Amino acid sequence: CDLAPLHTLGLVSQARALHVLERAEQLPAILQSGSGPLHILGGGSNLVPAAQVEGTVLKVELKGRTLLGEDEYAWYVAAAAGENWHEFVMWTLAQGWPGLENLALIPGTVGAAPIQNIGAYGVELKDRFCALTALSLEDGASCVFTPEQCAFGYRDSIFKQGQAGRWLISEVLFRLPKRWEAKLDYGDLAARLAGQTPTGQAVAEAVMAARSSKLPDPAQLGNAGSFFHNPIVSAELAADLASAHPGMPVFPQAGGQAKLAAGWLIEQAGWKGRRLGPVGMYEKQALVLVNHGGADASHVAALMAAVQADVLQRFGVALTPEPVWW
Ligand code: EPU
Repeated sequence: CDLAPLHTLGLVSQARALHVLERAEQLPAILQSGSGPLHILGGGSNLVPAAQVEGTVLKVELKGRTLLGEDEYAWYVAAAAGENWHEFVMWTLAQGWPGLENLALIPGTVGAAPIQNIGAYGVELKDRFCALTALSLEDGASCVFTPEQCAFGYRDSIFKQGQAGRWLISEVLFRLPKRWEAKLDYGDLAARLAGQTPTGQAVAEAVMAARSSKLPDPAQLGNAGSFFHNPIVSAELAADLASAHPGMPVFPQAGGQAKLAAGWLIEQAGWKGRRLGPVGMYEKQALVLVNHGGADASHVAALMAAVQADVLQRFGVALTPEPVWW
């Protein structure tokens, strides 16, 4: 089957077989029928598939969202893995349950969100997470994971580390706090909301406008959002770099570390808006790798290596890719 329309980079890519999961009970039969590795597909928004993908692709289309309960402190809202993330966020806001507004317009599905602990504008999934249910890819049995078990970090969780490839996340439970306060400290969010009452809905609108102003719409230009992580380095190295390069953004972190802006490093290395074959780094946000048409994973790999080499040579900082590679 053709994977090009099933992922946001729109690369030339084929897979031998595609299964669609609409009910959790279908999983054991699919596990028994499959040959080769099983690749779990959500919205395909953080994915670089090879031109020829080995094994079987399983597209998660489990649907449903519901208020499971509430107490004095929070609403507890569950969503099935195949729900579109942005539509889910907007639905919670329409119900009067704010908390996810800073994560508006992130492409992809609910089930993929915990895997890399999606984050934007100063909020990460882990800040609103209560628990998740996952199905074992050995036998289809279901298991609940607590926040501690998920071991969330910056763009990271146990599902990218020790438990990678072992689970299909089927449902996520969110805790949306009743004592809500708008979180406006990232970038120009506060300025965008000047003079307005910062309701959840208004913050979501501002986030959507901010994202649309610098991130390309995958329907227009293939991309997978930020292509590299923002590198975490020692505070010492960050201070050395900042004194050598005035104006370099540095975001201090806990534990004597600092986060650098990969987009800034890539722009300084001369890659903003520059192409290599059919792919390039986006002209308005150098951290976003875009497919200008007809690219496959080998073109992506070549550009990735060229950008990594130039940033390493210029700043001594290694960039690691954010997407999953099949
Ligand atoms: N910058 C440049 N040149 C560029 C791009 C960025 O100088 O071409 C500078 C900006 O001026 C700013 C800093 O780098 O000082 C950070 O840029 P920005 O606010 O655009 O955010 P980012 O660090 O590039 C991260 C996330 C995004 C998320 C935004 C907003 C990562 C890898 N990326 O991007 O997440 O939307 O912050 O919170 O952490 C994603 O993961 O796919 C994604 C889009």
